[in-house]
Amino acid sequence: MAEEREEREVVETSEAQIAVHWQEEGVIMPSVKFIAQANMADETIYDRFSLDNFPNCFKEYADLLDWDEYWTEILDTSDAPCFKWFKGGKINASYNCVDRHLAKNKNKTAIHFVPELVEEKTEHITYQELYVRVNEMAALLQDFCGLKAGDRVTLHLPMTPDLPITMLACARLGVIHSQVFGGFSGKAAADRVVDSGSTVLITMDAYYRGGKLLDHKEKADTAVAEAAKEGQKIEKVLVWQRYPGKYSGDTPMVDGRDYFVNEELKKYYGVRIAPVPMPAEAPLFLMYTSGTTGKPKGCQHGTGGYLAYVAGTSKYVQDIHPEDVYWCMADIGWITGHSYIVYGPLAICASSVMYEGIPNYPDAGRCWRIAQDLDVNIFHTAPTAIRALRKIGPDEPAKYNYYFKHMTTVGEPIEPEVWKWYYEVVGKKKAAIVDTWWQTETGGFLCSTLPALKPMKPGSAGPGMPGIHPIIFDDEGNEVPAGTGKAGNICIQNPWPGMFQTIWGDRDRFVRQYFERYCKDPKSTDWRDWPYLTGDAAVMASDGYVRILGRIDDVINVSGHRLGTKEIESAALVVPEVAEAAVVPVRHEIKGKEPDLYVSLRPGFEATDELAKKISQAIVREIGAIARPRKVWIVPDMPKTRSGKIMRRVLGAISNKSDVGDVMTLANPEIVEHITKMVQD
Ligand code: WTA
Repeated sequence: MAEEREEREVVETSEAQIAVHWQEEGVIMPSVKFIAQANMADETIYDRFSLDNFPNCFKEYADLLDWDEYWTEILDTSDAPCFKWFKGGKINASYNCVDRHLAKNKNKTAIHFVPELVEEKTEHITYQELYVRVNEMAALLQDFCGLKAGDRVTLHLPMTPDLPITMLACARLGVIHSQVFGGFSGKAAADRVVDSGSTVLITMDAYYRGGKLLDHKEKADTAVAEAAKEGQKIEKVLVWQRYPGKYSGDTPMVDGRDYFVNEELKKYYGVRIAPVPMPAEAPLFLMYTSGTTGKPKGCQHGTGGYLAYVAGTSKYVQDIHPEDVYWCMADIGWITGHSYIVYGPLAICASSVMYEGIPNYPDAGRCWRIAQDLDVNIFHTAPTAIRALRKIGPDEPAKYNYYFKHMTTVGEPIEPEVWKWYYEVVGKKKAAIVDTWWQTETGGFLCSTLPALKPMKPGSAGPGMPGIHPIIFDDEGNEVPAGTGKAGNICIQNPWPGMFQTIWGDRDRFVRQYFERYCKDPKSTDWRDWPYLTGDAAVMASDGYVRILGRIDDVINVSGHRLGTKEIESAALVVPEVAEAAVVPVRHEIKGKEPDLYVSLRPGFEATDELAKKISQAIVREIGAIARPRKVWIVPDMPKTRSGKIMRRVLGAISNKSDVGDVMTLANPEIVEHITKMVQD
C-alpha cells in the first residue's frame, strides 16, 4: 500500500518543468539521393498502419522473420494490458539473427569490433564465426551450467563481442538474459540477480575505459556476496577474459564458483546446438530500468513481437541495407543496444560496428576516424555524446573523409543548436536525421520520422511511427489537441508488438504504473481502454510532430540514462549520518541533466567535506558512477510543507537558478534563503 501511494504522488519538480522552451523550428527535407535509395519510400505505409487497420498491419513486420511455426492470432487481448502478439507462433531469435543468414551471407561481417586502444586491431566477425561462437557458448550454458528455456541468467558485461555472443547463446536455448550495464556497481548487479532469480552471473575480468584497463571482476565478488544476503545463491560466475588466456582481474578466482569462459569453451569446440523453437510470447530478456519507486523494475520483453518490431524499425527507420556499415554508439547494457545493435540489425543481416570505449579517447577525432576507416555510413548516438563531441572538437568531423547517409539521435531531447551542429558538421548536410523517441519499456521507436517520407524538424522527434498512435492527455484525461502549444502527458492509444509484456514478477505494478491513470475500465479486454502512459511530458504541433519535454515522474535522464531519484536517495540514506535526502535534476551543458543531492543530517553530526564525499561514494557503490551527484549539499533543514513533505520543487529551482516562487506557505520559509545563498554563491 505504501508503494501504491508513493507512485501516485505528484512529483514536485520534474524534468518537464525545467525543460528549455524553444521556438518551433522550420523543417528540412532529406536529400533526393537519400530518398532514392530508402527502404521505405511508400507513403501508403501510414494508411496501411492506421488505427482502422490495427492490429493486422503488424503482419508486415512479422513477415520479416523466419517462423518455426507461423502464428494463428495476431493479438490476444484476453489478459489486457498484458498483450500477446503473434499467438500460436514459434520462433527462435538466435536463429533469426544468425543461422538464417548463413546460406547467402556467411562471409559477411556481422560485427566490426573496435577495441578502445588504438594499437589493438579491429576484429571483423563474420556471420559464420558468430554462428560458431554462439553455438559453442550455448553448449557451455546448457551442459556446463545446466541452463534451459525459461531460466534467467544475469550478464554484467562491458562492450566486447562476448556480450552479444552471450545474449544470442541464451536466446538460442530460450534462456532469458538480463544484461546489467557494465558501469553499474556490483550491488546494482546483485539487486537484479535477486529480482530475476539468477543462479549464474556472467562477467568479464576487465575492460578499457578512457585508456585504462579497469578491473571488473571485483564487482562480481560483491554481487555474489550481496545477493547471498538477500537469499539468492549464485552458483557459478563465468568470467570472460579481455585477453583470452590471461587474467586481468584484481581479485582471485574462487575455486568451484568462478570459471574462465575461454577455458571452458575449449571443451565445446565444434559443438552445435539446435535453436529451440520458442512460443512467440516467451520472454526473450529482462532489462531493468528506473521507475517511480526505489526498486528498478525488470521490463520483460517477448520473443516474436519484440523481434518483429525491432527488425521492422531497423529496416525502415534505420534504413539499413545489405551493403551499409551501421554504427550505433550506445552501450548494449541499455535498451538501445539490445534493440539497435544486437537484435534489430542482426535480424536483418547488417554489418554493425561495436566500439569498446568512450567517444573522445584518445582525442576528439576518434569517432570520425573509426567512421572513415570502416566506411560507416549510418551513425547512431545520443545528444550527450553529440554535445561532448561538439564541445571538444567542433571542427574535427571536417578533417575526415567519411560519408553518413543517415544519423540518429536518441535518449533525451536534443536542443536545436546541437541538432544543427550534428546535421551541418557531423552529417555534412548530407545525412537524413531521425530523432527517435522511445523507452526501455517500448522495445523500439515510438515517435520518429520515416526518413524518406517526412521532413526533419530540429528538436522534434516527429509523428508516431506507423502503427503507433500517440495522444496527449491533460491531468483530467481530456485530450490536448495538436497545435495548441499546450503540454501534457503523452500516451500511446494502442499496443504494439515491441512493447514490454509486464514487469518481471509484478503485474500489479505494471498495470498501476503504466495504465491505471487513463484506463476507463480495469476489467476491459478491449485494447482501446488501455492507453499506455509513457511518463513523459510532450507538446504536439499541428503537423503531428511531437516534442518531448522530459520526465513527469521521479526519474532523471542523465546523459540519456534513466536514474530513479528514489534510488539515489535510498543510496544516500545508507550513510548513517544522513537523516533526509532529496534529489533534483539540474540542467547540464553536456549531460542534459545531472542529479543534485540535498541531505540533512541526524542530530549531533556536522557537515564536512569528508561527509559529503562519503555520501557521494555511497551512491557510486550502490548504483554506479553514472549516478554520482553533481554536488552533495548538506543543509541544516529541508524546505518543507506544513504537513512535513520535502519541497523538491523549491530545491530544483535553487539548483537551476530559477524562480523559487511563493514559499511563504512553507513550514520553514527562512531556510529557502539560507540554501539559496549556499548553492548560488
Ligand atoms: C527520454 C532510451 C527526447 C524520454 C531509448 C524517455 C527522449 C526516456 C528521446 C527513456 C528522444 C528517449 N527525445 N527524449 N529522442 N529518447 N528519451 O528507457 O524521457 O533509457 O521516457 O530508453 O528517455 O529512457 P530509456
